[in-house]
Amino acid sequence: MSQTQTLWWASESFWRKMAIWVTAGSFVVLIFLTFDTVKQITAGGKRVPAYSVINHQIDYKFDEKRNFQVPVIGPEEPLFGKKLTEAEAEALVSHGKLTTQAKNCMNCHTLLGNGSYYAPDLTKAWLDPAWGNKDVREQQMVEFLMNPQDRLHNAQGRRMPNLKITEAEARATVAFLKWMSSIDTNGFPANFTPIDQSAAPAAAPAPAAVEPAAAPAQP
Ligand code: HEC
Repeated sequence: MSQTQTLWWASESFWRKMAIWVTAGSFVVLIFLTFDTVKQITAGGKRVPAYSVINHQIDYKFDEKRNFQVPVIGPEEPLFGKKLTEAEAEALVSHGKLTTQAKNCMNCHTLLGNGSYYAPDLTKAWLDPAWGNKDVREQQMVEFLMNPQDRLHNAQGRRMPNLKITEAEARATVAFLKWMSSIDTNGFPANFTPIDQSAAPAAAPAPAAVEPAAAPAQP
């Protein structure tokens, strides 16, 4: 008999058992991870707030301990000035999400990092200082989404085409964007400066604010 046949770690039965145990073990770990992930990504959890978060101010502050910026849910600040119930908020946000899918925003943008790199990531678009200030932001966003073609929004030179978004779709999309900005993304996107939301009224819109719609767009 040769030497190798007596070595336990070289025997076929050992490796067969090993394969079975590793497969079974990984299966258990995967089941655990699946449940853990579902918990992390479900709206109403710690990382992904309930849809009614759109009734609140959302800010973005540096967290010393985690060493990146995290969303901070602030005092009540209802979207379009109207406080919604959880069910109403969910309906509005999902209408917005369906709009972003129907109009294929990912063709140009990234959402939570997924999509294309032609246009800015939309994860924190709600907090972009280019919307002027918090008092005009919602209206600016609706107007921009409905008529982006004649605007240079944050002066990066590219323009968004008119996607024939209705006002209802635009408002729902703004709700979706507001909700998305409240998601704890482990600091993504990094080095982001949020819009100033201090109580002090902003003296003048930020220099990079949307051009007034009145800008001549005549043929
Ligand atoms: C054909 C490409 C394209 C598509 C499709 C597109 N966008 Fe854009 N979008 C752009 C470009 C380019 C800009 C930057 C415009 C600028 O800065 O002047 C932009 C800017 C924006 C901004 C401002 C971003 C910020 O950080 O303030 C928002 C919000 C936005 N788009 C939302 C959407 C939504 C919602 C959809 C889908 C309904 C969409 N876009 C589809 C090209 C696109």
